[in-house]
Amino acid sequence: MNPPAIAIDGPAASGKSTVAKLIAKELGYTFINTGAMYRAITWYALRRGANPADAAQICALLPEIPLEFGKDGTCSTVLFEGRVLSAELTSPETNQYVSTIAAIPEVRAYLLRKQREYNKVEPVVMEGRDIGSVVFPDTPFKYFVTASPEERARRRAKQGLTDSITERDKKDASRACAPLTQAPDALLVDTSEMSIEQVVERIITDIRTKLA
Ligand code: DC
Repeated sequence: MNPPAIAIDGPAASGKSTVAKLIAKELGYTFINTGAMYRAITWYALRRGANPADAAQICALLPEIPLEFGKDGTCSTVLFEGRVLSAELTSPETNQYVSTIAAIPEVRAYLLRKQREYNKVEPVVMEGRDIGSVVFPDTPFKYFVTASPEERARRRAKQGLTDSITERDKKDASRACAPLTQAPDALLVDTSEMSIEQVVERIITDIRTKLA
């Protein structure tokens, strides 16, 4: 039996990926980026010419979707025809439609199984929107990482990415199925005025306290 997953949720550009990666490194766990999984399905659906707003069209692709969810070293990856997807996942088109596709219950059910499988194989730090609330509701390690909208917009711009994060957050938080939410038993970490090192330290201290 692997230790329970470390669940890290939060809105876009809250710094949760950076933090989750560092925590995974510190603990020797594998880092799983679930946003990349939703992004890969979005990229593939657009490539096939499917209409993201037509759930039936998207669902029809799922049974034969040629994406592989793997890992490279200590990080999750998504492969298409043996190639790790990377820049495709943050293209403007993918950014624009990922929240629409992530709201489809069948897409979420499909990825939920894949996400849970990772923790059967090895210990994981998993980052997303519904990890503490839906994917691993029983884990004692739940963290909701956020920052003010201004700070998140600033961080996104610094990465050179144009992504309307407010709009995406609104869609992610208002969908009926597994919305972006802070689980009632999650520790809230507002990173607006914290360095990355301070955030990692805060979360690692909590994990170690609970493990002791
Ligand atoms: O973490 P990210 O910004 O790369 O995620 C991209 C989108 O995927 C996000 O806007 C909503 C969706 N997502 C989700 O619905 N559930 C998750 N666990 C992770 C991401």
